[in-house]
Amino acid sequence: MKNILVTGGAGYIGSHTVVEMLNMNMNVVIVDNLRNSKEEALRRIEKITGIKPTFYKVDLLDRSALASVFRAEKFDAVVHFAGLKAVGESTQIPLSYYQNNVTGTLNLCELMIKHSVRNLVFSSSATVYGDPHKTPIKESFPRSATNPYGRTKLMIEEILQDLYDSDNAWNISLLRYFNPIGAHPSGMIGEDPNDIPNNLVPFISQVAIGKLNKLAVFGADYPTHDGTGVRDYIHVVDLAKGHIKALQKLSENPGIQAFNLGTGRGYSVLDIVSTFERVNKVKIPYETAGRRPGDIAVCYADASKAEKELGWRAELPLEDMCADTWRWQLQNPNGYE
Ligand code: NAD
Ligand code: UD1
Repeated sequence: MKNILVTGGAGYIGSHTVVEMLNMNMNVVIVDNLRNSKEEALRRIEKITGIKPTFYKVDLLDRSALASVFRAEKFDAVVHFAGLKAVGESTQIPLSYYQNNVTGTLNLCELMIKHSVRNLVFSSSATVYGDPHKTPIKESFPRSATNPYGRTKLMIEEILQDLYDSDNAWNISLLRYFNPIGAHPSGMIGEDPNDIPNNLVPFISQVAIGKLNKLAVFGADYPTHDGTGVRDYIHVVDLAKGHIKALQKLSENPGIQAFNLGTGRGYSVLDIVSTFERVNKVKIPYETAGRRPGDIAVCYADASKAEKELGWRAELPLEDMCADTWRWQLQNPNGYE
């Protein structure tokens, strides 16, 4: 797998994955409409790697523009990150989410068929497990969705299964990410949320730098060791490396497979606060608030399938996740602007 189309490659996880791909001497072509990212991320990728990836500012919903990318370039595989990802927003504008995520994927797959590209890595999410009946979560657990965003991931997984069933020449890796956090250790690329962050670690980081006053801890009455929600936080660089392993696996013609990409360890909200404070020598004021609707108590992966079949394991500890988040925030107090 040498020539790779990366959709959404200017985004948070995409940019980190492109860096790892360029480090492996892969030829990368990025397609992104920059709806949730900045072109500056691409210049930073070049600064880190010394290589400028080819970039097309194209929306996956624009079939003719996407078709011209497929005519101009040659691909062995596609890594498909492009999508909208905010759970709250998805409940406000569900049709945009279905249109963007589902139709965008259909357009992409149609062109892949037309140009005989049958290798695909898809960004799925632990959200497809809904409220899991137990932890750690295995790939074989039942899937469900609790919001339109999650439903787009579930639908796309099912569409890709149908596609594989229709033609076994496809090789598809459904990567179910747990909670990606952190940033490249250079501090040059990282997560750059528009508006006030919804997710825990970007919020903490903005409290630490003084942009936000204090963290609201959503629920301290969960059945966990300190009452706060437990998640499987994974360093974005480890996650990025998982995509390289998934691409390598596709060359063995594995068919369609799902993999959990997580560390297999759960940390509570207060564990994250205290680790961030200790590692970065900052204070995170917080107060306990009510539970956030739709949140679950505990979510962490059984990541043994990825270890066994992809030869991948998350290696970076929570301390690095917190230190790298903070380095990115300090070096870029206003993100890429
Ligand atoms: P991101 O928003 O930073 O990156 C997504 C990129 O896709 C952005 O650059 C955006 O501009 C682009 N994009 C969106 N719609 C597009 C379209 N129609 N055409 C072209 N480009 C388009 O998000 P991320 O955190 O890097 O997430 C990447 C993928 O991983 C998403 O599919 C997301 O749902 C999934 N995921 C993310 C997380 C997470 O916590 N970040 C967890 C699980 C799954
Ligand atoms: C969220 C998404 C989920 C997505 C995942 C990874 C929601 C409801 N779910 O899940 O679909 O797959 O991100 O991107 O948005 N917390 C606080 N205060 C805050 C923010 C969060 O206490 O200001 C708590 C939450 O209650 C949770 C933990 O921190 O216990 C992690 O929250 P978050 O980062 O939003 O991730 P998820 O809830 O796992």
